[in-house]
Amino acid sequence: MTNLEIAPRLRGLTFNGEKGDIVVFKESIENAEVTCAADELAEKVKPGVRSVSVEGVGGFLIGEDYDDAVNGTENAQKLTGRAAVVSNKVCVVTGGAQGFGEGIVRELIANNAIVFIADMNVDGAKALAALLNEQEGRTVAFGVAVNVADEDSVKAMMDEIVLTVGGVDLFVSNAGVLKAGSVKELSLKDFKFVTDVNYVGFFICTKFVAPVMEAMNKPTGQYYTDIVTISSKSALEGSNKNGAYAGSKFGSVGLVQSFAKELVADNTKVNTVCPGNFFDGPLWSDPDRGLFVQYLNTGKVPGAETVADVKAFYEAQVPMNRGCFPKDVTQAVMYSVEQKYETGQAIPVTGGQVMLN
Ligand SMILES: NC(=O)c1ccc[n+]([C@@H]2O[C@H](COP(=O)([O-])OP(=O)(O)OC[C@H]3O[C@@H](n4cnc5c(N)ncnc54)[C@H](O)[C@@H]3O)[C@@H](O)[C@H]2O)c1
Repeated sequence: MTNLEIAPRLRGLTFNGEKGDIVVFKESIENAEVTCAADELAEKVKPGVRSVSVEGVGGFLIGEDYDDAVNGTENAQKLTGRAAVVSNKVCVVTGGAQGFGEGIVRELIANNAIVFIADMNVDGAKALAALLNEQEGRTVAFGVAVNVADEDSVKAMMDEIVLTVGGVDLFVSNAGVLKAGSVKELSLKDFKFVTDVNYVGFFICTKFVAPVMEAMNKPTGQYYTDIVTISSKSALEGSNKNGAYAGSKFGSVGLVQSFAKELVADNTKVNTVCPGNFFDGPLWSDPDRGLFVQYLNTGKVPGAETVADVKAFYEAQVPMNRGCFPKDVTQAVMYSVEQKYETGQAIPVTGGQVMLN
């Protein structure tokens, strides 16, 4: 067994009824509490063990959170009940450097999670992680580079995460892109770009995170892990002059249902949250490339002459009269983690704008 296979297994073996401990790989450690061969781990490692040295592989430091594992600080909050839904669990948020992703990162950390901010904009991801670590006074966030549409990049990201903390409890597949345009005019290049990030990217991420989760969940059979993709209300209802996007999001629901049926055997639930429009986020409000500007330029809103006209048009379509916020989305993500008797579902968070049939 390699270090990449052993680390998630150790998380599984330290499962405490809610989650496993954080496991940090080191080439070598001194005075390990347990020294054994890889095939003796199940017999030797019990919850509460703080360090393990595996012959021919290396050492693993173990703790309630990252600082506890590395420095033995023992200052990690130990929450119970509803407050513990993501407490000291390892979460990954792709596209976490800005927009909905950044908001989800902040909300998960407010709920005591340890979060990998995985983004193509690695400088933004690392800057946000540094800010949040300083704010919290402990290591709660890491910035990591990824292009979700590239297999090698996703594999490298997963390897880095596994060697840093041992595995993943909640993977939020949030990175997404949008190119609006009429079916008569949209270039094939743009259509494929949207499909690659939103649809293929979700497949690639699941392909590499699912085996890690399986290795964590297997030793006890009681450990549950979650994959949640952030799709859209456009996964439930078509979107005019926005077919590439809506198609990719509809498709991701098909992947969610199929992956859910397969991964239930590993105790991994797979769900999707379908948010309404985040009008205040950069996707809509960026003054140069935001959707308000794109929709104005493509004439999607008849009669609209300014960005403000486009925004007013969209707000008026929401029964609850406002756009969706990251907090609304994170509540649905946390629900899917807390709910142990559901998988393969699409959860609308649309202010009543799109409802399930
Ligand atoms: N903003 C909305 O109104 C809205 C509504 C419903 C659903 N969504 C969905 O929410 C998710 C986030 O949207 P947003 O509005 O926050 O977007 P955004 O454009 O503000 O941010 C997207 C982030 O993803 C990163 N990213 C883009 N491509 C990537 C790739 N290939 N690999 C890794 N990172 C990549 C970007 O660097 C950026 O940090 C998307 O899946 C989107 O479809 C958004």
